[in-house]
Amino acid sequence: MILIKLGGSVITDKREYRRFNEEAVARLCGEIAEAGKQAVIVHGAGSFGHVLAKRHRLNDGYIDESQIPAVAQVAYDVRELSSMVVAQLMKAGIPAVSMPPGSCMVMEDRSLDMDRQEVVSRFLDKGIVPVMFGDVLMDRKLGFAILSGDQIMERLTEFINFEKVIFVSDIDGLFDCDPKKNKDAAMYDVVTAETLESIDAESSVDDVTGGVAEKMRWMLEMSRGDRECILINGTVPGRLKAAILGEDTVCTKALGGI
Ligand code: IPE
Repeated sequence: MILIKLGGSVITDKREYRRFNEEAVARLCGEIAEAGKQAVIVHGAGSFGHVLAKRHRLNDGYIDESQIPAVAQVAYDVRELSSMVVAQLMKAGIPAVSMPPGSCMVMEDRSLDMDRQEVVSRFLDKGIVPVMFGDVLMDRKLGFAILSGDQIMERLTEFINFEKVIFVSDIDGLFDCDPKKNKDAAMYDVVTAETLESIDAESSVDDVTGGVAEKMRWMLEMSRGDRECILINGTVPGRLKAAILGEDTVCTKALGGI
């Protein structure tokens, strides 16, 4: 069983409110179908979530009534996005069902309260792919808050024994500094707890490296036990399929946990 996150930067154009990257999603769904392994899919919100969530400060929780229509709009927008992702999965021949987290789960001070996996595992038993996504959720302490796809992934790995976790983004992998600003940026093919230690030592003086360290820590946390956590560039055809099948491709692999 494989856990795949389709990042918001790949499935939408993050610069424009509600712009869906249909072509990229269709291709990625085709690659998942061709690889033929059972999967759970989580996707980000991209410009269907972040634009309004930021404008109305939804992740700060309830501030005043003016935010309420935005909560409903973001919930609507990410459900539409999820339906479009599921439509492409089904076109590729994968039976998939969208499971909106905000419709059946709550948070407590931004921490997801997800104590039952039955609905996910029963769909899996019948060969149906559950699709979850970053959403706006009610929060016992804050009123409401934003749940990211990454938080859902962490929680899913606690009760499903995934052999592999694949994070589909728009960058080739993790770099030691920002590759857009530095020609000499080097990509990590493999990262372990030791790599993180060496980065941590530098991150106090470099913000960019600090960001990399945070991503690396998250990937390592997802790679506990025998599981590998792989970051790939989903804008390049063929890499997702190769990553699912365990074939050689450009990526960063986190191994050995933390
Ligand atoms: C964000 O989810 C959810 C909302 C803004 C409603 P993610 O954080 O997982 O989305 P991406 O992948 O960054 O777009």
